[in-house]
Amino acid sequence: MKIKVLTIFPEMLSGYLSSSVIGRALDAGLFSVELIDIRPYSQNKHKNTDDYPFGGGAGMVMLAQPIVDAAQAHASGRERRIYLSPRGRTLNQRIVEELAQEEELMLLCGHYEGVDERALQLCFPEELSIGDYVLTGGELAALAVIDSVARLIPGVLGSSESSEDESFTTGLLEYPQYTRPREFRGMEVPEVLINGNHALINRWRREQALRITRERRPELLETASLTAEDLAYLRSLESH
Ligand code: ADE
Repeated sequence: MKIKVLTIFPEMLSGYLSSSVIGRALDAGLFSVELIDIRPYSQNKHKNTDDYPFGGGAGMVMLAQPIVDAAQAHASGRERRIYLSPRGRTLNQRIVEELAQEEELMLLCGHYEGVDERALQLCFPEELSIGDYVLTGGELAALAVIDSVARLIPGVLGSSESSEDESFTTGLLEYPQYTRPREFRGMEVPEVLINGNHALINRWRREQALRITRERRPELLETASLTAEDLAYLRSLESH
């Protein structure tokens, strides 16, 4: 997978992308990210990338010309093009899984009050939001897309960091985890996790995931795939 990011602040992404799991995966060539600075594409004599909005109002609007020229200069014709914006469809694990199947993505990060609509019409037909709140720019949202997609690419997560068991893959929230020491400030690790019976451990974890999901996000239980044993456990919670 090849990801191109158009931004006027490439340095906002570079630190994140060179660290930890994502940094290692990029070094190993498991996928690639190209940060494309929009500013050099500006034909404006001061290399401006924004201007006042027609019709008035607060803030500035990003110019169409540098965005369209940067996108065209780096286009392969095969990439899925996405503008990060609170106006878009809200990202979720289903969309992340779909994006992970793509060969190439081109992400546009906006700033200020937005982007000239014509740049979107010409080059970015799809919009994605990372949630119902407003960021100062799309860079953090682009990183959320890159990170969540990258961890589904084979080899990016080590086997010890497998993505199979976790929230939104099983459709349930995650069970509680513990590490050493066995007792911390008077609080003991649940006995079942220590006795080495993996069938019991798996059952305990599943029940904890069901319990936590029921408490915090009960609507997820409607779409999770549940066994007869799961349903019996959930019924047993109702009597408490
Ligand atoms: N840009 C500003 N806010 C955003 C959000 N919530 N999601 C995606 N891009 C954004």
